[in-house]
Amino acid sequence: MTQDSASSGNLSVQRSALSVERSATVAAAAPVLAARSLAKTYLTGTQRLQVLRDVSLTVLAGESVSIRGESGSGKSTLINLLAGLDAPDAGTLEWGGGPAAAGRRADFLGIVFQSFYLIPEMDALANVLMAARIRGRIGAAERSRARELLAKVGLGERTTHLPAQLSGGERQRVALARALMNGPQLVLADEPTGNLDEHTGDAVIELLLGLCRDTRTALVLVTHNAAHAAKCDRPLTLHEGVLG
Ligand SMILES: Nc1ncnc2c1ncn2[C@@H]1O[C@H](COP(=O)(O)OP(=O)(O)O)[C@@H](O)[C@H]1O
Ligand SMILES: [Mg+2]
Repeated sequence: MTQDSASSGNLSVQRSALSVERSATVAAAAPVLAARSLAKTYLTGTQRLQVLRDVSLTVLAGESVSIRGESGSGKSTLINLLAGLDAPDAGTLEWGGGPAAAGRRADFLGIVFQSFYLIPEMDALANVLMAARIRGRIGAAERSRARELLAKVGLGERTTHLPAQLSGGERQRVALARALMNGPQLVLADEPTGNLDEHTGDAVIELLLGLCRDTRTALVLVTHNAAHAAKCDRPLTLHEGVLG
């Protein structure tokens, strides 16, 4: 390496350290997620079903929050609202102190679903890269990050496997890597172990919590599993449309 390229390398390290410092300051100033008085009613035919009445939730940088609630209590509805995939009837939502705009979603948050939602025709690496594709071009840096993430979730030897050639636990690990691909500030996970056996589910939760902790990514985890919920910084329950 020439002296010039070495010093420009140092400069870029300094710059990226600066930008990390700056984003940490911003994250400390504004909560990662601020939902205030969200309400949601579904209308089907003549029926009105009020699922969320008055849900407020603030999540700080790096914090993990779990949400438990009976089946049908509105947990998935809430996750969809927090992800900006559906609109509330009332209330406000902010991501990192700014608007929860669809154009910011791919940068800001990662989502993990119960049924993995991998693209069947794409191998593990391509599925992880889908997150980056949504943001723009995929280059060597993105490929190398996706490989790194797959290695971190224990799938370094499975990058060319299709979802059908992976076990349930392995598929969810691919989904975890995809959720973290863009370095989000927040991961929303909706019953990520709902389709897994107990042992596999425990391992996936350990991995999810560990990765979020290591990267200081905030987490909202919807789960039926009391032990998984208790591992989060702040365990909450959703009951009769209210979070508490
Ligand atoms: N798109 C929809 N249209 C009408 N009703 C819905 C819709 N989505 C969910 N519901 C109803 O809203 C309630 C909450 O659903 P959901 O948020 O999926 O609950 P949970 O994830 O806690 O099991 C359920 O009674 C469900 O039937
Ligand atoms: Mg649900």
